[in-house]
Amino acid sequence: MLFSKPPLTLLTLLLTTADLTLSTSSPSPSQLSNRSKKFSIGIVLFPGFEPLDVIGPFEILQSVSAYYPQTISFIASQTGPITSRCPPHVMVPGQPPVNLDHLISVSLTATHTFATAPPLDILLIPGGMGNMVLVENNDTSIESFINSRYKSLSYLLSVCTGSVSLARSGVLKNKKATTNKSFWGWVTQFGNNVKWVPAARWTQDGKIWTSSGVAAGMDMTYAFLSKVYGRVGVVDNVMNAIEYAPHTDPKWDPFSVVWDVPGADPKRSLESCVKPVGF
Ligand SMILES: *[C@@H]1O[C@H](CO)[C@@H](O)[C@H](O)[C@H]1NC(C)=O
Ligand SMILES: *[C@@H]1O[C@H](CO)[C@@H](O)[C@H](O)[C@H]1NC(C)=O
Ligand SMILES: *[C@@H]1O[C@H](CO)[C@@H](O)[C@H](O)[C@H]1NC(C)=O
Repeated sequence: MLFSKPPLTLLTLLLTTADLTLSTSSPSPSQLSNRSKKFSIGIVLFPGFEPLDVIGPFEILQSVSAYYPQTISFIASQTGPITSRCPPHVMVPGQPPVNLDHLISVSLTATHTFATAPPLDILLIPGGMGNMVLVENNDTSIESFINSRYKSLSYLLSVCTGSVSLARSGVLKNKKATTNKSFWGWVTQFGNNVKWVPAARWTQDGKIWTSSGVAAGMDMTYAFLSKVYGRVGVVDNVMNAIEYAPHTDPKWDPFSVVWDVPGADPKRSLESCVKPVGF
């Protein structure tokens, strides 16, 4: 404490004005009280989930839970191992299903079913090719689960194409959301009156947070935890501990240009700098 405090202040002063505002902001009373509150977190799994959509945010949450109490439940249609391998699915309408069995995969263990999941404060829905299969099969189990829990949740988060389930469940009505930019056209056909944001690393609208594709989920998780707990201290230290420099500008989105998302600015620079946060 004695020797870490002064350099912290000094280095803070050396940063840019934008960083100064963020770094010097001390946690609000609500953020302080959230630090001792035990948040119950649920992450949904389905066959064909995108590994990093789940593990990226989870990595950060696990580290943060060393300091701020949390519990985690992995929730799926059935308990046990859930594979990231996508079941065969129709890529082009009218064509036979594409078999993806040659892809390597990993399984995560579902601890609860949609019926047995405990009360939750935070629910995260990942994306992945598997949610195309769920849509094809008219499987609405994730959407029903979202609807049954939405009112009691403090926060609902989606990563990548996970926003499809939010759109289909109806909770995105008149709300801002974003998604994986390479699947923009497919995802944005779902939901009524969703305010899809074409260039966004992540969005927040009330208690709903949505991120762009895959790795963007880690940036959203950092922004989300900074909001809930305050970023100074544990949240920033975790970034330095896992040696990850999150993008902190929600409008930073070169992938909207790469993937020609309608509404994105094609003249936008594709290069941008990230740097470590905190100390
Ligand atoms: C899903 O619903 C559509 C429209 O009702 C139907 O045409 C299709 O056969 C259904 N698919 C499955 C796998 O049940
Ligand atoms: C979009 O999702 C697909 C499939 O999950 C993934 O392969 C791809 O990298 C994602 N694209 C972006 C821009 O994140
Ligand atoms: C603290 O958590 C509660 C949910 O339990 C939430 O309503 C409140 O907004 C949080 N505080 C902040 C600053 O996010």
